[in-house]
Amino acid sequence: MTTQEDQVRHAPGRFPAGFAWGAATSAYQIEGAADRRGRSIWDTFTRVPGRVVGGHHGDVAIDHYHRYRDDVKLMAELGLTAYRFSVSWTRVQPDGSGEVSQKGLDFYRRLTDELLEHGIQPWLTLYHWDLPQALEDRGGWPERDTAYRFADYAAAVHEALGDRVHTWATVNEPWCAAFLGYASGEHAPGRRDPVAAIRAAHHLNLAHGLAVQALRPSRVGGCVNLYAITPATADDHDAARRIDGLQNRFFLDALLKGSYPSDVLDDLGMDLDLMKNQDLAVISEPIDLLLVNYYSRFTVSSRPGPASAAAAPTGTGSPWVGSEHVSFVSGGRPVTAMGWEIDAGGLLEVLTRVREEYPAVPMVVSENGAAFDDHLEGERVHDPGRVAYLREHLAVCLEATRRGIPLEGYFAWSLMDNFEWAWGYGKRFGLVHVDFATQRRVLKDSALWYAEIIRQNGGHE
Ligand code: NOJ
Repeated sequence: MTTQEDQVRHAPGRFPAGFAWGAATSAYQIEGAADRRGRSIWDTFTRVPGRVVGGHHGDVAIDHYHRYRDDVKLMAELGLTAYRFSVSWTRVQPDGSGEVSQKGLDFYRRLTDELLEHGIQPWLTLYHWDLPQALEDRGGWPERDTAYRFADYAAAVHEALGDRVHTWATVNEPWCAAFLGYASGEHAPGRRDPVAAIRAAHHLNLAHGLAVQALRPSRVGGCVNLYAITPATADDHDAARRIDGLQNRFFLDALLKGSYPSDVLDDLGMDLDLMKNQDLAVISEPIDLLLVNYYSRFTVSSRPGPASAAAAPTGTGSPWVGSEHVSFVSGGRPVTAMGWEIDAGGLLEVLTRVREEYPAVPMVVSENGAAFDDHLEGERVHDPGRVAYLREHLAVCLEATRRGIPLEGYFAWSLMDNFEWAWGYGKRFGLVHVDFATQRRVLKDSALWYAEIIRQNGGHE
């Protein structure tokens, strides 16, 4: 059990004033109320047998749509100063284009009002993977038109909520949306077509840039999932270069430098005409901040082996278009319930890297956290592994600020246990435990610990 004394002893140390203390979620993973919106690719995908563990889906999820007031109360209990959530595109435009549903927008008006009443900054992500099925039927992200539809949707949400959202994020983790969705097929829409995946990646980037333009003059950021990457041996530097290229630099270079890395384009070895036009000027539209999701480090090898860093739950292809021969090996570190290696030092590495290799941009850690096999014992959930994970990563965030890296906040993933994509409800990332049968929420030890850290702005010196 975490005592008050432990909490103080295990505090990372004091953060700069104004540091945002947050937690994050996304629409499909928590909202439910599927009957009050149009159909997204995740509604379709979850119905395909074998795609999601246990055949789980997000129709009800954790019923946040109906319970948002209580959930905001929980956030206030934790002392969060910021909450990152996403808008469900099909609540706003059931078919992904055309008429806008005021009823759908009303939900987000109520949610943001509730947050503001509790002194919590709303951080809104426009796209967290739930593409309207109607747009997928017209080709999805591999089609250029989808980026323009996204810009229209962004403008509609901005018109409704521009006066009350603190920070806007465009596309969550475009790497996942493109390569897990269209190359490996482990995420919706479940396609296994490398060319489509590259086209999707480019159009997701374009959608980001167009949305940045549509969201002005609000504060806007782009969101990437960055990994620390290590070659397994001295012979594996090329493997590391390839994975770093597709995972990290493909998106960072496009957003922050307005170019695609030439070595990655060479690795892809495809006709990439679609990338050689003026789009990069739009994609690199200046942003106010970079949202960095960080979970783990990859150790990579050029010897044959598993083509995914953590085996997907269902049989899938490789997301590593152009570098399918690269394999992932153990770095010998402890792992979470996802099989992801825990390495807080990797977070410092990626933040330092962005500062050193890219034009200056403020950053936030917009997701960081861990799944563990938590159990409710009476009214408590003892999750020392998650407390340790958060503590180590927050210590690194503090160190980053001390080194002059412009890090403005931290968002734990996730506020509550929820639908973990292809893994269904089997993987719990929450600070708050959710009983999926009764929807009862119970603060885990990690939530109590985090609340104390927030109260002390990181802890005492
Ligand atoms: C990244 C995604 O943005 C989020 O939706 C997911 O649940 C977490 N990582 C954990 O896998």
